[in-house]
Order: sequence, then structure tokens, then C-alpha cells
Amino acid sequence: MSHLSYARAMDSFQATIDADSRIEPRDAMPDGYRKTLIRQIAQHAHSEIIGMQPEGNWISRAPSLRRKAILMAKVQDEAGHGLYLYAAAETLGVDRADLLDMLHTGRQKYSSIFNYPTLTWADIGAIGWLVDGAAIVNQVPLCRCSYGPYARAMVRVCKEESFHQRQGFEILHTLSTGTPGQQAMAQDALDRWWWPSLMMFGPPDASSTHSEQSMAWGIKRHSNDELRQRFVDMTVPQADVLGLRVPDDGLVYDEVTGHYSFTQPDFTELYEVVKGNGPCNEKRLATRVKAHEDGAWVREAAAAYAAKQMERAA
Ligand SMILES: [Fe+2]
Ligand SMILES: [Fe+2]
Repeated sequence: MSHLSYARAMDSFQATIDADSRIEPRDAMPDGYRKTLIRQIAQHAHSEIIGMQPEGNWISRAPSLRRKAILMAKVQDEAGHGLYLYAAAETLGVDRADLLDMLHTGRQKYSSIFNYPTLTWADIGAIGWLVDGAAIVNQVPLCRCSYGPYARAMVRVCKEESFHQRQGFEILHTLSTGTPGQQAMAQDALDRWWWPSLMMFGPPDASSTHSEQSMAWGIKRHSNDELRQRFVDMTVPQADVLGLRVPDDGLVYDEVTGHYSFTQPDFTELYEVVKGNGPCNEKRLATRVKAHEDGAWVREAAAAYAAKQMERAA
């Protein structure tokens, strides 16, 4: 592209962003925009499929057939979210096999929340309620993301996430209105998942590296701290309904602002887990790599079948 037509293409990109319209795969876009989206969508896709593991751990031990059927549907939804997102990333000119390779070799990350273990059945409730709840708060604004394929994928994902959040809440509601032992199990799950859930919104605004440019490009619509506040405001009243106590002595409702003030999570823990030092990092990655290797014959068979079909058509 000549300098002049490149400059024109970038003007039209900026005009699209300024008009709050969508950028589509064939539109010209700055290199940094493309790279940022590839990184973010890939990390999101990886999180969906790695996120199947902590819950998959409980499919065989769900306490009833109904719970088992619901949990299987939920875990399958997460696989589907991964597929929409890898497909959205591919519209930016990357190959899904390369993205998976980056996940498997640790060059791309996934959400740190999935590096924590699921110790009891109540953890499945806490994940649905808190982790899928935090995912909703993060993802609803992404339905208005400037990149069309990502924004459209998010619409369906968010609808399914709200089912996930309710199923988690319902599990905890059953436990928290059950025997004293079940109530204690529910409280223990909240105690362990609260802080990692707050970390899901990323570092505080003051030390967030990618945010400003992503906001200018219409990829990100709200800051990490705004979203974290929104999550706390939404979740604390729900904990009250459950009769559970959010494990934060600093939690106070401010009548004037209409917001809760709360204690920030320990971000050094977040940085450690991101670096690979969380309780389950190694296990999650090893399970993923093994699943990929075990599935090699399926990919080969599908490719051979597609080649045969093409030959026949020709
Ligand atoms: Fe999901
Ligand atoms: Fe989900």
C-alpha cells in the first residue's frame, strides 16, 4: 500500500471508531489494533477451554442426576465459547493451531482464576455465581467492542453466562439453606473464591499496562477498577440473600455514592499466579496438552475426510 492510501485507510479506521461503528475483518486496521485483539481474544478463548477443567473435575461426583446434567451442559457451553472465540481470532489472520501452540508452550496466558482447585461441591456453586458472574461484568461491555466478530460472539456468550451464574447461585442457595455442614461448605467456598474473583478484573488502573490504548480503540469500555466496583455492588446483596458472609471486614455500603467500599485483593498473589506459581498452573497445562495430543487422531481423520470430499467434488 502506498503511503497515501495507507494514510487514507487509517483515517477511515479512525472515523469508524469515532462513529462507534464496527471494524470488520476486511477493513484496514493499525497493526497494534490487530495484535491487541489477537492477544485478547486468544487469551479469552484459552480461558474458556482451560476453565472446563476445574468444573469437569466434579461431573462424575455431582450429587444428583439433575446436577450432573446441568453441569455437563455448562461445561460444554464453555467449550462452545472457546470455539466461537478461536473462530473470531481467525478472522484477524491467525491460525487456531498456532494459538493453541502458544497456550501449550506458555507464550499466551489464560485467566488466573482457573489455577485454583475445586475442593468441594460448593466450589461448583461458587464458580458459577462468582466466576461466571465476574465474566458477565467483564463481557457485557465487550458486546459493544469495536471489532465486529468479537462483539457478536459476546452476545451469545453473555446469554449463556447468565444461565451459568444462576445455576451456581442455585447450588449455593440449596447448600446455604441446608444442614449446618452444608452451610459451612458454602461459606468456605465463598471465603476461598472471593479474592481470586476480585482479581479477575486485572491489576488496579494505576498499574494496568494495556488499558489506555484499548479504551481509545473501543476494545475496552470501562476500566478494571470500575468493573471490579460494579461486580462488588452486584454481588454483595446476593450474598445477603444466600445468608453468606463476604470475607471482607472493610466492606461498607456508602449511602451517598450508592457503592460499597471494599478491601482490594492481594495483587502480589495475582502476579505470582500469572507467572505460573498458582496452585494448579502445571496441572492445568499438562491436562490441556495431553487432551490435545490424545485428540491428534481426530484432527487427522477430519482433515483426511475433508481432503477426500474435496477430491470427489473436483
Ligand atoms: Fe464461558
Ligand atoms: Fe460460563
